[in-house]
Amino acid sequence: MSGENQRKKFTVPQLAARKSPAQKLSMVTAYDATFASIVDAGGVDLILVGDSVATVMQGQRNTLGVSMEHMEYHVQMVAAAKPLALIVGDLPFGSYQSSVQDAVRNSVRLIKAGAEIVKLEGGVHVCAQIAAITAADIPVMGHIGLTPQSYHRMGGNKIQGRTAGAAAGSKNRLIEDALAVQENGACAVVIEGVPADLASDITQRLAIPTIGIGAGNGCDGQVLVMHDLLGLSPRVLTFTKPYAQLRDIATSAVQQYVEEVRSGEWPDTEHSFS
Ligand code: KIV
Repeated sequence: MSGENQRKKFTVPQLAARKSPAQKLSMVTAYDATFASIVDAGGVDLILVGDSVATVMQGQRNTLGVSMEHMEYHVQMVAAAKPLALIVGDLPFGSYQSSVQDAVRNSVRLIKAGAEIVKLEGGVHVCAQIAAITAADIPVMGHIGLTPQSYHRMGGNKIQGRTAGAAAGSKNRLIEDALAVQENGACAVVIEGVPADLASDITQRLAIPTIGIGAGNGCDGQVLVMHDLLGLSPRVLTFTKPYAQLRDIATSAVQQYVEEVRSGEWPDTEHSFS
């Protein structure tokens, strides 16, 4: 491989500058070193250590129960893989909502654990937190639209941006949220679970890149939860696509092992010591 083609570490300034339909951003979640190295080898720009760890790894109904200790632990595991992709650490529910001091203190914890940028959910109502974290020289990624930490306010994980008016989750409010996130210093923003035309509209209004999930094709990048991308999740959501069927492959591998143990075929002499 020539020096020119060699992939280099993806950095925050590169992220902030990536606003081009010709070079869309790709982000995938990972929660440990093994899978971080797999998604990194796949060439993603960003690895999100998401609080989706709650649903896909911990078996929880929503993301609300994830603690700072959980997130630090998973960020440390992903950082141990030393990926070329930028490591995004998700601030969990309760770690930034109550004060800017909490927001900065907990962002510092994620950075010390190995995150290179932190992500938090919300728009207008978390502006002070975004500004304070940015002022502490920690890069911030926003997250607007269907924000899973607003599970109870939304009445579940519901598509946002379909209503008029100014209430949280309305179309106008989401545009306001996006602008507020940008004005307060975020260098990118995730747009989740909103109609495609609204996500495109927001993308065009912003100078920072948008990364969509369940938000159509008009964003500057896309993110998927790794378990959905690899077909590890037990069910397929409308806005996700399994690019492999690892759940089936893994299940049949285990079935074969169980059969071989029961029949006495495993271990054979080749895999035994004399
Ligand atoms: O935690 C997560 O995986 C996320 C993505 C769905 C954007 O926030």
